[in-house]
Amino acid sequence: MARQCLTIILAAGKGTRMKSPLPKVLHKVAGLPMVGHVVACAQQVGSDRLAIVTGHGADQVAEALSSNDIQAEYFVQTEQLGTGDAVNAARPAIDAGADDVLVMFGDTPLVEPETLSTARQQLADGADIVVVGFRTSEPHGYGRLVEEGDQLKAIVEEKEASIEQKAITFCNGGLMAFNGKHLPAILDQIDNNNNKGEYYLTDAVEIANNMNLKVQAIETPMASILGVNTRVELAAVEAIWQDRARKRHMLAGVAMIAPETVFFHHDTTIGENVSLEPNIFFGPGVHIADNAKIRAYSHLEGAKIGVGAEIGPFARLRPGAQLGASSKVGNFCEVKNAEIAEGSKINHLSYIGDAIIGSGANIGAGTITCNYDGYNKFKTAIGANAFIGSNSALVAPVSIGDNAYVASGSVITNDIPDEAVGFGRARQETKLGLATKLRARFKAIKEAAKKG
Ligand code: UD1
Ligand code: CA
Repeated sequence: MARQCLTIILAAGKGTRMKSPLPKVLHKVAGLPMVGHVVACAQQVGSDRLAIVTGHGADQVAEALSSNDIQAEYFVQTEQLGTGDAVNAARPAIDAGADDVLVMFGDTPLVEPETLSTARQQLADGADIVVVGFRTSEPHGYGRLVEEGDQLKAIVEEKEASIEQKAITFCNGGLMAFNGKHLPAILDQIDNNNNKGEYYLTDAVEIANNMNLKVQAIETPMASILGVNTRVELAAVEAIWQDRARKRHMLAGVAMIAPETVFFHHDTTIGENVSLEPNIFFGPGVHIADNAKIRAYSHLEGAKIGVGAEIGPFARLRPGAQLGASSKVGNFCEVKNAEIAEGSKINHLSYIGDAIIGSGANIGAGTITCNYDGYNKFKTAIGANAFIGSNSALVAPVSIGDNAYVASGSVITNDIPDEAVGFGRARQETKLGLATKLRARFKAIKEAAKKG
């Protein structure tokens, strides 16, 4: 039978150095709170239960997670007495029994599932504790891993370390995996008799050694266990996340000539053979189908882009933009809450909001849907193969039929039936010779002014 897994996420810290009213773990990476990344990782390695230890901003953290549909048990650690005390705050969840207990930090969002899977595998193979370590030439501040053969003997915190121990470059990344059977007895033995007066979770290693248990360290790159304490570190973590996302998308068949200028949201999905030109920003909820092309300097959020569609350069797609196969939204166009069917084109300088456009329509340059009267929003419907002449204002609610034409420069306030042409502008008058007369008159006025 599969081993039952409980993951405890420590998220009680205030994050003073973020200088923010938001609890630290709710600061976002790729648009998802850091703790959300940690939860996602825990879920990917098959955690059956989640226990979140909160302190500062406990309600906010619980609310953020539950509004993202995350089921967890919450434990409040009222005073931050150390990582050992924090894990102990989740004691009821531990005592309920689990084969594997993983401990993660809510401010360490780059952990890769493979690392935790390896730790779980080692528990399954008989280890009682697995500690995730990393190597660095600047170990200052981290707990040092003291090994003897493949047994991890102790984690020595910076404040407790001897000069020789401080020279150790193999450090504790903070992630630990425990055999749930022994964890309660281990936690009971952690005290705060140390230089910081804290309950160190890391003392679990020495305690387990005294209990003759098997303790091992595994190694992960430092980038994967980077913790966030300041907004500078948050930006560094974001950069690593983006870099990974770019590689992931390229390996899945997305072409990018300047990947370092393309910024993804955590939930962006992209089909195969899509091409992304430089300088593109993805907000939440963007889905792009195969063979689409997003050209330079485009900003997309809440948009669905059909097979082979072409967007930009300089396009803005806002929530509810749904673009059909082979449709086009060109430069300086904004599309919001609009369904645009297959093959339709909005090529230049338009605002299309709260609209439904049938297939094969051509929306001329400068077309604006006037969807808002300052109080309410109204819909514009445009039929299949309709042709909207340039610089037209479509005053919603209004509908334009299939195969209909709108004359350029029209303000359309009444519906136009199928196959009809709507003119919504003054008729042009042309006066022969008037230009010559006007010029003479203007010149005379200018000369009179000079003399006077
Ligand atoms: C901890 C480790 C250290 C390791 C380092 C890696 C201990 C004693 N030390 O040190 O070996 O190298 O992480 O980054 O575990 N937290 C609570 N409640 C508390 C204390 C902490 O929820 O009472 C949370 C914090 O919000 C944070 C995490 O636990 O997310 C780690 O705590 P922190 O104080 O940053 O530990 P370090 O001193 O960095
Ligand atoms: Ca830390």
